[in-house]
Amino acid sequence: MAEPTVWEQILDYSHRADPYPLYAELRRTPVSRQADGSYLVSTYPEILALLHDPRLSSDPSHNPQFSAAVEQQRSEGMPPSFLMMDPPEHDRQRRLAMRHFGPPHAPWRVAGLEPRMAEIVGGLIDDMAGKARIDVVDELAYPFPVSVICELLGVPPEDRPRFRKWVDMALEAINPGVDPQVQQQKREEAGRELFNFISDLVERHRQAPGDDLLSAMAADDGPEGRLSTGQLASTGLLLLIAGHETTVNLIANGVLTLLRHPDALERLRRDPDLVIPMTEELLRYEPPVHFVPIRTALDDIDIAGTRIPAGSPVTLVLAAANRDPGHVAEPDRFIPDRRHNRHLGFGSGIHLCFGAPLARLETQVALTGFARRVPDPRLAEDPPPYRPSPILRGPLHLPVDVGAGQARPGRA
Ligand code: HEM
Repeated sequence: MAEPTVWEQILDYSHRADPYPLYAELRRTPVSRQADGSYLVSTYPEILALLHDPRLSSDPSHNPQFSAAVEQQRSEGMPPSFLMMDPPEHDRQRRLAMRHFGPPHAPWRVAGLEPRMAEIVGGLIDDMAGKARIDVVDELAYPFPVSVICELLGVPPEDRPRFRKWVDMALEAINPGVDPQVQQQKREEAGRELFNFISDLVERHRQAPGDDLLSAMAADDGPEGRLSTGQLASTGLLLLIAGHETTVNLIANGVLTLLRHPDALERLRRDPDLVIPMTEELLRYEPPVHFVPIRTALDDIDIAGTRIPAGSPVTLVLAAANRDPGHVAEPDRFIPDRRHNRHLGFGSGIHLCFGAPLARLETQVALTGFARRVPDPRLAEDPPPYRPSPILRGPLHLPVDVGAGQARPGRA
């Protein structure tokens, strides 16, 4: 049997705990053609250039592997979200959602959540009291951002457990290496259930608006016109799914990294403001999104001495770029107060993460709360077990032994 390629090794679960040496190998060829005709890009300047290049499309209908599924979903009244669109429609739908999410129209939406975030984190840490071992994923990193995104969107608490299964299935369906037919089946099944759930929610919010984001988007009579119920459901679903897995992984990766660097944890206890540059460094050093798959070249693109022919699928390996020694000094060192940190943890260009202000604040509140209140934490398993996905990479569980006695009192 042929030796597995570097990329095949990266996708293989056995390398999930530490894919970074393989990324270093990948960077030796900044743009590499794979046997299936797709291209991988792994170095910082090339990825940055492509993220800003209109010849690289995010619309999966340009990709023969996904076009039939996208058409099928569209014909069933499930339009794709703006993550999977190109301008001008991407820009219009993103603007319509953004108007209600942040400055200049709704500057309070995220910032105003901070007290509530501290309350949720405080409550979760209170619940750890008296335990000798906690699971940071199940007891903090998962329930916290999921509660926040649900409250933000106006998903009633009683509905939340229902869609966890669907979200897991939808995310599993994007994993490379999964049989395309199984992938399509999973995506369709989970997509339909989730879409029906969110469409029903949109209707409920139209009839009885609250002060949540979905209600605000549903009632928007701004100059660009309303989003249809289908478009609103796709946007709501995108936010719900994006708000589920990514921040969970950043918080879990953050606690893991702090416990591997006790000096940084101690510094954070003494100086909570350190959490601001530290969160950026985590987005570089242990990012939750390792690569952006499913981009397609609309034209021949010449880059780093290689021609990517029109029609080729392209994968941008953001996590490899974040440790590109040509771009960042001492890339494999975690430097909590690193300056001028131009990481690609949130991507770049027109699809730059919409939820970045929310994710940053959540991570800052969770990490300072953890550092200040959880007594004497030590990793019980290193490395911890990882989730299957090589794209959205993070621990499945993070068992941590904690000191005897209660969590330190107070809000997070
Ligand atoms: C630490 C947490 C997060 C990380 C690392 C992250 C990362 C990313 C990345 C890399 C992209 C770019 C994808 C691309 O170029 O195709 C992206 C896009 C996006 N993210 Fe996040 N994300 C996070 C949290 C969130 C949250 C909490 C939300 C929702 C409130 C969110 C909503 C979105 C949306 C809607 C897009 C698509 C933007 C567009 O297509 O214009 N993200 N995110």
